[in-house]
Amino acid sequence: MKKLIGPFTQILPLSGLPVKEPIADDALQIIPQGGILTENGLIAEVGDFGTLRKSNPQAEIEEIQGDHILLPGFIDCHTHLCFAGSRAKDYALRIAGKSYLEIARSGGGIWDSVTQTRAASKYLLAGFLVDRVKRHLRNGVTTIEVKTGYGLSIEQELKQLEAIKIAADNVRADLIPTCLATHILPKDFNGPVEEYLELILNKLLPKIKQENLANRVDIFIEDGAFSTADAACYLEVAKKMGFDITVHADQFSTGGSEVAVTVGAVSADHLEASGEQEIKRLAASETVAVALPGASLGLGMGFAPARKLLNAGACLAIASDWNPGSAPMGDLLLQASVLSAYEKLTTAETFAALTFRAAKALNLYDRGVLETGKLADMQAYPCADYREILYHQGRLKPDKVWKASEQLI
Ligand code: NIG
Ligand code: FE
Repeated sequence: MKKLIGPFTQILPLSGLPVKEPIADDALQIIPQGGILTENGLIAEVGDFGTLRKSNPQAEIEEIQGDHILLPGFIDCHTHLCFAGSRAKDYALRIAGKSYLEIARSGGGIWDSVTQTRAASKYLLAGFLVDRVKRHLRNGVTTIEVKTGYGLSIEQELKQLEAIKIAADNVRADLIPTCLATHILPKDFNGPVEEYLELILNKLLPKIKQENLANRVDIFIEDGAFSTADAACYLEVAKKMGFDITVHADQFSTGGSEVAVTVGAVSADHLEASGEQEIKRLAASETVAVALPGASLGLGMGFAPARKLLNAGACLAIASDWNPGSAPMGDLLLQASVLSAYEKLTTAETFAALTFRAAKALNLYDRGVLETGKLADMQAYPCADYREILYHQGRLKPDKVWKASEQLI
């Protein structure tokens, strides 16, 4: 059954825009009084509402009252949403002046979340995850990447992946799982780092493949996490096994993004410490540069050089990094609005970074633009001009959200 949704005051399909490089706002196509024709969860046609109604008299009409701006659903391509517990203690120490790495060394940090997450059953974890996903969905985020990384043993990483699967079966957003068993070397692992990496490669990743629990692998390259040399060996093998690669790169020090580009990672995320050389290398590659302003806000540190990355020719995505430690806020639109203000990103670049460019970071090409044949994942904001959305810096939320053409909100 065909369904025609509209009229929208403006539809921004975000189609026909470049995958890399800067985008001026006047490149944005704006369809006034627009309509979306959907069929079986996909977009059949986008255009003038009146014209679509005339040419599709048999279509069911879902009428939109009042001014609304329609955008593709947002895609959050980097989160750590599968966790239990809180790290409010860490945050209090940070605002009192301790650094993220100091807190980690003195018993807080990622390991604290590992302890709290290990203590939760997979059903409890799935429940927490469902609540967070629903919050994201209400804010127009229809595809969400979710990392493990708070299990850090074969059994506990599998528990996290199973929790993600249970949650995915119980929410309408698409959840894209990523194995981050290499978040840090677990404190209770008795052996050298090479042995841990071998364990993950030989025992965990084959099981993940076999049970189809994830097709992406991530690693945190940093002092206190994994070295560039160890990470490069690990990622080459994971890639040969058929996993897409993504990297926590250049957060506090450089090195990670070079590894990411060398192994052909789909994305290099964080990049707050990236300099001219790293920017150039990323821009020349097919690796998406993912800025995580939520981590900058949570840590009180500088943002990734988003403007320079775009100017150099990179593909820039923006994600929330929502996690209990460095980025507890989890409001993607607010974070992207703030990043655009500080980094001078155009509205077009910011929307691209939250939609089709974020989809590329997940190797997904069926969403992120409103075009014939793409998923009808959409969100509508109650205003009359698309520029209102970033202007309100996250306070203006969508009041309608659709996943695969089904209206959820
Ligand atoms: O992306 N940097 C490493 N990992 C996460 C933080 C996870 C945590 O602090 O629990 C990040 O910021
Ligand atoms: Fe992260």
